[in-house]
Order: sequence, then C-alpha cells, then structure tokens
Amino acid sequence: MKLQNYLREKTAFIENTLNKLLAETGARPSILYEAMRYSVFAGGKRLRPVLVIAAAETVGGRQEDVITAACAIELIHTYSLIHDDLPAMDDDDYRRGRPTNHKVYGEAIAILAGDALLTKAFEILAGCPVPGDDGKVIQRVIKEIAVAAGPCGMVGGQTLDLLSEGKNVDAETLFCIHKNKTGALLRASVRTGAILTGAGEEELAALTTFAEEFGIIFQITDDILNVVGDSTKMGKPVGTDAQRAKATYPAVYGLEQAKRMAREGKDRALAALRSFDTKADPLRLLVNYLLEREK
Ligand code: IPE
Ligand code: IPE
Ligand code: MG
Ligand code: MG
Repeated sequence: MKLQNYLREKTAFIENTLNKLLAETGARPSILYEAMRYSVFAGGKRLRPVLVIAAAETVGGRQEDVITAACAIELIHTYSLIHDDLPAMDDDDYRRGRPTNHKVYGEAIAILAGDALLTKAFEILAGCPVPGDDGKVIQRVIKEIAVAAGPCGMVGGQTLDLLSEGKNVDAETLFCIHKNKTGALLRASVRTGAILTGAGEEELAALTTFAEEFGIIFQITDDILNVVGDSTKMGKPVGTDAQRAKATYPAVYGLEQAKRMAREGKDRALAALRSFDTKADPLRLLVNYLLEREK
C-alpha cells in the first residue's frame, strides 16, 4: 500500500465531511463563519482525523463510524493553531500557506473564531451517531477529547511552552511540553478511533503506546523543521523557535541528537503495533512518514 494513495482517499472524505459540518450558509454574523472556514479550509494535512480513521480500521472498524468525531478533532486542532499564532502567543503571520487568521480578520475575530471552532466541535461530538450506543461510548469519547484539549492536555502544554520561552528547561519539562501541547490531541485521536469502534482493552493499550510515541516524534520533527525546513513547503515560517528562544528538542539536545531521538521513538512506536495485522499498515506508514516529512 502507498501512503500517498491512502492519504489522498482519506483526506478527500475528511474535506467533504468538514464542508458539510461547517455549511451554515447565510448564518450571521457571517464574518465569524467566514473566519472559521478560512482557517479550516486552508490546506492542513488532516493528520488527526486520518489517525482516527486509521486507528478504527486497525481494530476492524469502519471509517463511516468515526468520521464525525474525526472532523470534530480537526476543528479543535484548527482552533489551537489560530490561537497559537496570535500576537500574545507565538505571534506568527503565516499558517497553512496563508496569512494567519488574525492578520486577515483582526485579533478579536480570530479569538472568537477559535472559541467557535472549539465549542462547535463539542456540539458535533454530542450529536455523533454511534451504532448501538446507549450514550456511554460517546460520553467516554467526549471526556477523552475534552481532557486532551484542556488544562491537563493541550492548553496546559501551551501554557508551559510560553512560560518556558527564554529559559533553560530540563529534559523532563521539555518532554512535558511536547507530550501535552501536541501529543495529547494526537493520542486522543488514535484512542477515539479505537474506542468508537469497540476496541478491546489490550488493543487500546497498544494503540495508546503507539500514539504517545507518535505525538512526541511529531513535535520533535516539527521542531526540527523549524530549524532546517523550507517555509514555502511548510506554509509557515521557519527559524521562529530560535528567535523566541522556545524550549525545543534541537535547542536542548542539538539537531543530530533530536533526529536520533525521533528515530528511536519510531522504533518504539512500530514495536507497539506488533500484535496487529496488515490493517495497522497505515499507522506504520504514518510513523515512518513523520521522519521524512517536509511539511
Ligand atoms: C502543527 O500541526 C502544529 C503542531 C501541533 C505542531 P500540523 O503540522 O498537523 O498542522 P496542519 O494541520 O497540517 O496545518
Ligand atoms: C503548536 O506548537 C501547538 C498547538 C497549536 C497546540 P508550535 O507553536 O510549536 O507549532 P507551530 O510550529 O506554530 O505549528
Ligand atoms: Mg506555539
Ligand atoms: Mg506556533
């Protein structure tokens, strides 16, 4: 199987569903809906919803049964990017190859568009169809995603990221930043796909280990790309972590050691998938892709 073909097929399904979920035509205030759509349809990689689907398929589930939750997670991710780019946070002007949301709509609307995407995601999740569920499964998934996005997850990690600017952070703090600001939502994506399609506890544990490794590697490679990447390919600026003296893997360990740590993480991630058959191949290919990605 070719990862490119897999991604093309899945992202088309994801784009199509996102379009339906955000189709409020004529709703007011129109500027808010425009700002929400501006960032959602700016060409993100859709990695989180792809992970939801790939995890579901790994345990024998169907993409139709997880697509709504997968798209809700992408809305939360997009909100986090809009806020991450604000002047009070990373103060970035480009994202997904376009001027950032606040550059186009102003800070107030960008903040509100982020808030709207976050709350819309939970509206969508609460109405998520789960075959044969009496409400318990969807309740579990909502909690999973809320915890991952909130103070014990992404928001906590973002806070620690900002508080660590310009400081000499130790290895434990650096790990904690990455685990939470990026890892938590990726972990929740994999677990959501598995939980919604009835994975057993052992399968879920293995997939969780995989996802935790995946999350750290993802942010290590994001840090590496911020040093050596091509901003045109990435659609966002490079060199900004050093400018802001961010706590990153290359800053703390050096580039070569950071690359080595990503490779070691990949081996552990693949080992976690040992008990699965070829249905886990997309997850295997995705973790390999992380180390080669250019955007
Ligand atoms: C970027 O995430 C922000 C981080 C969490 C490091 P992605 O690299 O997945 O961004 P998009 O969705 O493709 O724009
Ligand atoms: C973004 O991390 C993490 C979240 C938005 C939650 P970074 O600030 O390191 O990512 P980029 O480089 O701006 O995408
Ligand atoms: Mg940031
Ligand atoms: Mg940033």
